[in-house]
Amino acid sequence: CLPALFTGKRIMITAGPTREALDPVRYLSNHSSGKMGYALAHAAARMGAKVLLVSGPVNLPSPPGCERIMTDSALDMHQAVMQRVGEMDVFIGCAAVADYRPQQQAGQKIKKSQDKLTLTLVKNPDIVAEVASLANKPFTVGFAAETQDVAHYAKDKLARKKLDMIAANDVSKQNIGFNSEQNALSVYWPSGEALLPVSDKLTLAAQLLTLIEKQYKE
Ligand code: C5P
Repeated sequence: CLPALFTGKRIMITAGPTREALDPVRYLSNHSSGKMGYALAHAAARMGAKVLLVSGPVNLPSPPGCERIMTDSALDMHQAVMQRVGEMDVFIGCAAVADYRPQQQAGQKIKKSQDKLTLTLVKNPDIVAEVASLANKPFTVGFAAETQDVAHYAKDKLARKKLDMIAANDVSKQNIGFNSEQNALSVYWPSGEALLPVSDKLTLAAQLLTLIEKQYKE
């Protein structure tokens, strides 16, 4: 049983990877399973929030008590977020959004001909940074998946993207992070930090949400 800390509050959560199409049959993506974002959505709903989960392509059922919008590319996810973010009290960007997309999307399947094929990529919008820069922004939380110097890069991201809080995990560790059932998080906000040790993702989600609620109130 989780405390009803978010009764009457609206929370938007992004989760999962994005797919950046090269042609009608191929895409660039990453190993995000969506499990952490889905656990956050599930826990937030159990804590009384009205949850809107904006999901990339994953094979997970919609968490109980949540509204879900399925998206595909970073541009899709960006559009879905911007359309509804004005209604939100809290935004948690947990999705592993592709930083770049192919500049051109071929209308037909790319044929095998030359020995070398060069792809030109262009930058995608940074969804969480854009949300954090809105005039009437919700309390904005980002994630950082790092393989080294976790604290340094996370704090840098917190400041650079003007976030209210950032949750960082070390994805180089075998038992936690991408696609695993467990995770551990180092959480930073402008005036403090907390360490959430290895645990299942639902427990960790409830702990992170408790930290969010505390800082949101202040
Ligand atoms: O800069 P980096 O990709 O490491 O930042 C991770 C954080 O930024 C996550 O919260 C992720 O959801 C968010 N992000 C985003 N849009 C992007 C890239 C990252 O919202 N295009």
